[in-house]
Amino acid sequence: MTTDRLMALDLLVSVLTAAAWMSAGVAAAARRPRTAAALFAVALVASLARVWSVLALAGAGWWFVQEKITVALPLLVAAGAAATALAGPRLLRAARRADAASREAVKAPAVAVPLLGAGYAATVGIVQTFLIGYPADPGTALLLLAVAAGAVLGTWRAMSTHVPGLRTATAVTAVAAVLGGTLVFVPSGETTAEGSATGGTAAMAATGSGSGSGSGSGSHEHHSASEGSASLMGAETRPVTDLRGPAVPPPGGAVRRFELTARTATVTLSSGRKVPAWTFNGQVPGPPLTAVQGDLVEVRLRNADITSGVTLHWHGYDVPSGEDGVPGLTQEAVPPGGEFVYRFVAAQVGTYWYHTHEVSDLGVRMGLYGTLVVTPKGTAATGLDLTLPVHTLGGVTVTGDRDQPLVRQAAPGTPVRLRLINTDNTPHRFTLAGTPYRLVAVDGTDLNGPGTLGRVGLRLAAGGRYDLAFTMPSDPVLLRVDDRTDSVRITPESGPPGDGAAAAAKGATASATADSAVDSGAVPAAGGQTAGWPELDLTRYGAPAPTPFTSRSRFDRNFTLVLDRGFALTNGRPAYAHTVNGAAFPDIPTEVVREGDLVRLTVVNRGRETHPWHLHGHRVLVLSRDGRSVTGSPLWLDTFDVQPGQVWEVAFRAANPGLWMNHCHNLSHADLGMMLHLAYEGVTTPFHGAHSG
Ligand code: C2O
Ligand code: CU
Repeated sequence: MTTDRLMALDLLVSVLTAAAWMSAGVAAAARRPRTAAALFAVALVASLARVWSVLALAGAGWWFVQEKITVALPLLVAAGAAATALAGPRLLRAARRADAASREAVKAPAVAVPLLGAGYAATVGIVQTFLIGYPADPGTALLLLAVAAGAVLGTWRAMSTHVPGLRTATAVTAVAAVLGGTLVFVPSGETTAEGSATGGTAAMAATGSGSGSGSGSGSHEHHSASEGSASLMGAETRPVTDLRGPAVPPPGGAVRRFELTARTATVTLSSGRKVPAWTFNGQVPGPPLTAVQGDLVEVRLRNADITSGVTLHWHGYDVPSGEDGVPGLTQEAVPPGGEFVYRFVAAQVGTYWYHTHEVSDLGVRMGLYGTLVVTPKGTAATGLDLTLPVHTLGGVTVTGDRDQPLVRQAAPGTPVRLRLINTDNTPHRFTLAGTPYRLVAVDGTDLNGPGTLGRVGLRLAAGGRYDLAFTMPSDPVLLRVDDRTDSVRITPESGPPGDGAAAAAKGATASATADSAVDSGAVPAAGGQTAGWPELDLTRYGAPAPTPFTSRSRFDRNFTLVLDRGFALTNGRPAYAHTVNGAAFPDIPTEVVREGDLVRLTVVNRGRETHPWHLHGHRVLVLSRDGRSVTGSPLWLDTFDVQPGQVWEVAFRAANPGLWMNHCHNLSHADLGMMLHLAYEGVTTPFHGAHSG
């Protein structure tokens, strides 16, 4: 069973357990010995099932059960055993007789209270998983224990005038509650320092290099972490504002100048529909930026009237840190009337995008994004090359600025490249029908030996990119999004007959030699049959190739990020946050690395939502997913989709000094706390912005 299913099953069993104990208690109090006994039996079986489901879940990793094994399960087992010992015999005796006297007997607090108590214990376990999540700490455990004990005392008192030792029990419960509350809520002092150091150990667990292990972990100030570590090291420090791109291109490169002005506007989609938007140069998406490898890209950003401010972040592009566009970390957000000039060398080839990083959830959703495509030097563009950012604008799926299919013509035999970009917060599923094709690049990086595909669904993470390539056949080709929106339709152009036929024959040969077994699939009629196409597993696609490091490498740093939901402070306000190791931004300890370190990042999703994880400034190599290593082409990603129950292990070389965001690219999750910093030792920031985007 998948971890996701096990999590759901465990939840179901835990709810059933709580409900069974609770209703057994209620039935007893209502003088129904037979019903109560039956529910008691159900509760016993459910409790045993709960023990099993937690142990089964533990097989997926300690992260998935930590709070259950340390708190919820012991509490359930203790309360269930007490209820069985105290109430069980009487309940069974009464159920056998079921006369008036036995009806009165089960109503006694000695029967009903232990049953209800087991119900409360089971309930606080669920509450803990939902409200607090990972990891359980002594403070919350104590608080939950006090809540359950208080409920037992309250129930007992309500059912009987005399509760033996009530005063003492109440006092002990109150003390536990206060102590637990203090451990949980008091934000400063030794308790928190200790708590945060523990979190830091889990999150940072630096191995090999001892110097970094303490720095930053004890700090609650996200920006002081890097400053602190720098002074701790006594090493030379550099402000992030010094880490800028060059003013002139490398030899042989040209300067590509662009001007982007952010402003509110009403944009008109291809259907004529008007949508109020935040735009670059009055359009959504913003102007497409293109460059040839080795060029210097220079972008002057101006802000006309976006009152919350704007920046440009180069998603997936490993620019110098000072050009990364993170407000409050690498620059101040550009206010209305202001400007900022970005410069970087177009070193990476491929498909990327840019977007604002200031109030990015709203900003990107409203339209402050565009595409960045860098082509290799010395290769003249041939064929049809379409850059296709897919976005949800005003409630409809648009490809570029079109809310209707983009229709293009291409002569059979023409090489076609489709650059798919997901600029939304959630994944999209793409299908390409009418031709065999290859998925040649992911997140800008070419795959090794990508095989021919047909009749598959391609799940593209939020923020991610796929480049598809094929030779135009003599029949139409259709790209569809989420099995319902026709995005691009390419029809064969009737060129000069000899030409077309020759090209078509060539195309057919190429695809036949590639993989004759693949059924390219006919273009589905509107309404389509693509929904049943299986999803491509990227970790098994393409051919293996040597990589600069593997899961057997010696890592200088190991960081683990456990993603969950829970109550936490984020940006100073309490929220039902998206948490990392139980904390939310800016309280998640900064990950500190040293230039040259080999870093392993383990990302675990305990929650019910998908988290497209995105590290700025670095591509990461996927080592494994759910413990299974990649058997296909090496996968270098900048955004990897951590679905519920999944565990991803990725690695990167710390070769781009700076201060970087490391966050969920469901930007509404980031907004609710799911982001942190990765800082190189010795790099400081003069900015003190609270939100980072
Ligand atoms: Cu595309 Cu920090 O984001
Ligand atoms: Cu998320």
